[in-house]
Amino acid sequence: MNSALVKYEAACRALGEAKSIDEVKDIRDKAEAMRAYARMAGDTDFLFWAIEIKLRAERRAGGMLAEMQLQGPGEYQRSYHTTVAPTLDELGITKDQSSHWQLEASVSEDEFEKWMNGHLGDEFPTSSGLLNLAKRLAAEQENGSNKTTEEKEEKGKKVKFGAPDISIREIEAVVEVLQNRTLTNGGLVRQFEERFSEFIGGGDCVAVSSCTAALHLSYMALKIGPGDEVICPAMTHVSTAHAISMTGAKPVFVDCHEDHGLLDPDLIPAVLTPKTKAICVVHFLGQPGYMRSLADIAREHDLKIIEDCAHALGTNHGDNHVGLIGDCGAFSFYPTKMITTCEGGMFVTKHPELAEKARSLRNFGLDRISGDVTALGWNYRMTEIQAAIGIEQLKRLPSFFVKRESNWRILRESLKNFKTFEGRDGIAPYAYQILVDDRDEMRAELLRNDVQTSIHFEIPVPHFSFYGGGSFPVAEYIAEHSITLPVHTKLEKTAMERLVSNVRKFER
Ligand SMILES: Cc1ncc(COP(=O)(O)O)c(C=O)c1O
Repeated sequence: MNSALVKYEAACRALGEAKSIDEVKDIRDKAEAMRAYARMAGDTDFLFWAIEIKLRAERRAGGMLAEMQLQGPGEYQRSYHTTVAPTLDELGITKDQSSHWQLEASVSEDEFEKWMNGHLGDEFPTSSGLLNLAKRLAAEQENGSNKTTEEKEEKGKKVKFGAPDISIREIEAVVEVLQNRTLTNGGLVRQFEERFSEFIGGGDCVAVSSCTAALHLSYMALKIGPGDEVICPAMTHVSTAHAISMTGAKPVFVDCHEDHGLLDPDLIPAVLTPKTKAICVVHFLGQPGYMRSLADIAREHDLKIIEDCAHALGTNHGDNHVGLIGDCGAFSFYPTKMITTCEGGMFVTKHPELAEKARSLRNFGLDRISGDVTALGWNYRMTEIQAAIGIEQLKRLPSFFVKRESNWRILRESLKNFKTFEGRDGIAPYAYQILVDDRDEMRAELLRNDVQTSIHFEIPVPHFSFYGGGSFPVAEYIAEHSITLPVHTKLEKTAMERLVSNVRKFER
């Protein structure tokens, strides 16, 4: 029996035996990851089975919904508060959504029924709402109808550096927030924080307006301020250093290790002073920093560790997700990141008292219990719209990883003759960086051929006039010689071929 069929049968069995909506959803999300993989690999058998598993999971969930809706009006009211509402919530849908789905269906009912009948048995009851969700998935598979013209054009032509992956799910979630009219301070921010915590394997999460805000809150929660020094890498986004400066503390820059381009722990002892209070490690381009060595230094000198995880959703260090290894971590949801909420960030920590502090500082320093303002705080809140997008993006994250990982491997295989930093274990497929001699000429030529690239980063932070200089040879080398190539989910086979062939013109 081929392996696609074995996986399919196992998934169907698991679906039949699922005892909770969570198990059904889990299978649905795995099927989505399989679908993305199969599509990318051009494996039509696997693709077929993956779609079918997903549709079955949707129908199974639909079955539960239908059962609940069949209850009598009196009971319905009661169960709305007990069973139905939380379950619908878990499914990420509202009572009213079946009618939206009906309106937005993009293939005719007949056409879909024909398709469904050809592919599915009758074992699961269905509801019109979820049936129509399945209908859209089918339409997406069959003719890419939920893609914009721009996206379709992009497939074969332009290679964009950043292309956020926004589906109908995020769009519906935003519309729902706008219809419900709780635009901020609602339950979705909390839900996003909980789901994020589940994804990274624990910790207290506080959703905020950007990664910069999360970094700033980290220092403030740790009481770092005027007169203190914080060590950070010379090669990073200016935000890493600004968040330190915003507290009144001084960023002290350290060069990068030449093997991986990450903050070099061996250079830290030379810059330690009695004022040093913390180290900020940046998991640069998805690579985990040298956490063990940094932890040793921190322990010996009583320093805090702040993790800048802007590029590092999905990055692991040993068995731990980054962000939960040091004292605090900060993630970014800017549009080019692993998931997006337009703008947005997440403060994470394993220490509940730091999370409580960050929650208060995110909201003007207000104490939630007493109503008193106990510290100087900011408005760093995330909106319900951003959280709604984030929740949907997190659900789709497994499939994003499959696609990004595959694109990352294609670049690593095809661009073997280009110099690159060795990827450390646990690296997440955020982007692929190569190091070349004729960087600017190469970027300009790629751009002439509609291939967008980026640089991480063009100027070492201490060289900005605000920070005032110093010598950082590895950071300077990266700034002058690196090109970052995209691996995002919108890059299909033809775009990857185009990217590779254009880069390879510069093979020496
Ligand atoms: C390493 C690093 N840290 C922090 C940030 C700031 O993130 P945000 O734009 O969400 O504030 C960025 C932005 O890309 C970054 O690259």
